[in-house]
Parts: sequence; structure tokens; C-alpha cells
Amino acid sequence: MVAGIGSCLPSRCVTNAELERTMDTSDAWIRARTGIAQRYVADDGTRTSDLAVGAAERALKSARLTPDAIDAVIVATTTPDRPCPATAPTVAARLGAGPITAFDVAAVCSGFLYGLATASGLIASGAAERVLVIGAETFSRILNPEDRSTSVIFGDGAGAVVLRAGEADETGALGPLRLGSDGTGVDLITVPAGGPPRPGETAPADSADRYFTMEGKRVFWLAVQRMGECAASVLDRAGWQLEDVDWLVSHQANHRITARLADEIGIPRQRSVGNIAEVGNTAAASIPLALDHAHAQGTIRPGDRILLTAFGGGLTWGAAALTWPAIDPV
Ligand code: ACO
Repeated sequence: MVAGIGSCLPSRCVTNAELERTMDTSDAWIRARTGIAQRYVADDGTRTSDLAVGAAERALKSARLTPDAIDAVIVATTTPDRPCPATAPTVAARLGAGPITAFDVAAVCSGFLYGLATASGLIASGAAERVLVIGAETFSRILNPEDRSTSVIFGDGAGAVVLRAGEADETGALGPLRLGSDGTGVDLITVPAGGPPRPGETAPADSADRYFTMEGKRVFWLAVQRMGECAASVLDRAGWQLEDVDWLVSHQANHRITARLADEIGIPRQRSVGNIAEVGNTAAASIPLALDHAHAQGTIRPGDRILLTAFGGGLTWGAAALTWPAIDPV
């Protein structure tokens, strides 16, 4: 059961016009090829855990829970605070949640759905009753400023939900969930080595390998194919017909991908909810951010049937059925 939701964006908004001034690109190209108008970028002092804590606090507030009611924190991220240890224990400690279960999930843009599945498993096994699942990224840190094909796409942010034990027929129930991977595509979306230099540090000789790279065209079609297949399989398992789906909320990778995906699944494009124009592609934070914004705007309402799907590095993908709960926007 989803019991609460919240999100957090850094304060600095970077418009396409600002990018035009620093790299060989244009507002027209970015809007037409990706659907993005702006994205948010963390300042040097802001870490992934800061955004994760901000989103988690709002999710707890919307669930009307205090941090001590949480049994586990899962942070899905591609950009942890440090290569080691995981970011989730820092988040749990900063929330004041006590000595609880806390770990990260690494599945790039599919990370939030992998986190939801893991949280469901913790709840089903009796290991936890209430779990915070957070997707959080400071993706701007791993972008190569020389690579205009990735630098214009990604943004920073975090989204979180509180998942609690409940009944399958309750409003807010998480339905069937499917995940998949194909490691033969490891090179298509990758940071090949090390990690980017710290702010203020001189870039090492092999710096290009320390940044995120993506074979955009191949990823485009694989994303449509894998999310389409996975979403169809979840619909089948849930016993939902296409007309039963009120909203498709897919990973906000690119507006052309979300449009093609809706066509592929057979859902009218106007029933695909997204916020890529405002926040860009926020990787693991993308789905909870899109859900939180759609909820705050009153687009998705209690009882609505939502189909979630994501695709990312690994390659990884996933889909889930969700009935939207009656929760307060924060
Ligand atoms: N501004 C202007 N021109 C650009 C830019 C830019 N920012 N970036 C690339 N171009 C140019 C290219 O150099 C190329 O020029 P050329 O024809 O002279 O060689 C032209 O635009 C077309 O480039 P393509 O790469 O073919 O552009 P495409 O239409 O495929 O768009 C994009 C690129 C946006 C990356 C697209 O392929 C895409 O969205 N792919 C999928 C991304 C995705 O789904 N990611 C999800 C997973 S990500 C994750 O897991 C972290």
C-alpha cells in the first residue's frame, strides 16, 4: 500500500536558454528531440542524501507518520553520496529513524521500481511493516560537460513513497510488479570507470571514462520495446484491460519515448502523465517525482488505476500496477 508521497528538487533551475550559452545546442533542438524545457541542478554542497531526506520528510508528512514508524529505508540511486558505503543509512540517520534496515538499490533509471519490489518483499516476509522507498539523484555530477547529447537531458531531484502492509483490494494497493535485465547491453548506458572529479578537483587524464555515456539511439528503441513488453505483462497479471488504465506513468526519459510507448501499449497519449518538460530525466527519481507532481496538481486521484514502467542502465526495466491512494499532497 502506498501511504504517502513527497519530492524534492534543488533550488537552481537551468533553462535550455542557459545551456545554449555554454554548449553547442539550442532550445529548439532540446525541446523537439527530448521535450525538456528546464531541469534542476544541485549546487556543489548538495548531495544525493540531502535531496533524499527532503523527499522522505514530505512523504512521511503526507503519510502522517513520524520517522520512528519506519522499519526500512531503500534509496534507489545512480549517484550515491560516496562509492562506499550506501547512501540509505545516512538518510535513515538524518531522518532520525533509528537503527533500522537501510540500503541502496542500483538499477539506474529502473531503480525506483526495483526499490518498490524490494520493499514489497520486506513487507511480505514480515521483516518490515512500513518502508520508505526513495529515488534520488545528483545526476549532473556524472555528466560530461563536453557531451551535449547527455548534458541537456538529465537533471537532479528526489521522490519518495511510504509503502506499508495492506490488503490487495485497498485503495493504494501495489498490484503485480515485474522486473527484467539484460547485461549484454551493459555498454549502452554506463560510467565506464572511477567516478567524476570532485568539485574543484582537476579532471584526471582518463576523465571521459569517468562520466556517464549513453548510446541514445539504440537505447531509445530498446526502452520502448522493453517497457512495452513489461507493461503488457503486468496488465495481463493484474487482469486490467487497456481501458481500465487511467494513467500511464513511465520513466521520464524523453517525450518521444513516452509517446511511442503509449502507442506501443495501446493507451491514448493524453493518458500518459509526465513532467519531463519541467525536470528533465531524473533517472531513479523520475517516477516518484512524476507521481508526486501529478498528485499535487490533482491529475491523478484516489482510486485511479496507474501503470508504472521504467527502463535504464544495466540494462534493466520494470513495470507495476498501482491503485492511487487517498493521501494529502504536502
Ligand atoms: N543539441 C544539438 N544537437 C545535438 C545535441 C544537442 N544537445 N545532441 C546531439 N545533437 C546532434 C547530434 O550530434 C546529431 O548531429 P549529426 O546528425 O550532425 O550527427 C543530431 O543531433 C542527431 O543526434 P542523435 O543522437 O541521432 O539524436 P536523437 O534524435 O537520437 O536524440 C537522444 C538523442 C535525445 C539522446 C535520444 O536518442 C534519446 O532520448 N535516447 C534515449 C534516452 C533514454 O531513454 N534514456 C533512458 C535510459 S537513461 C538511464 O538509464 C540513465
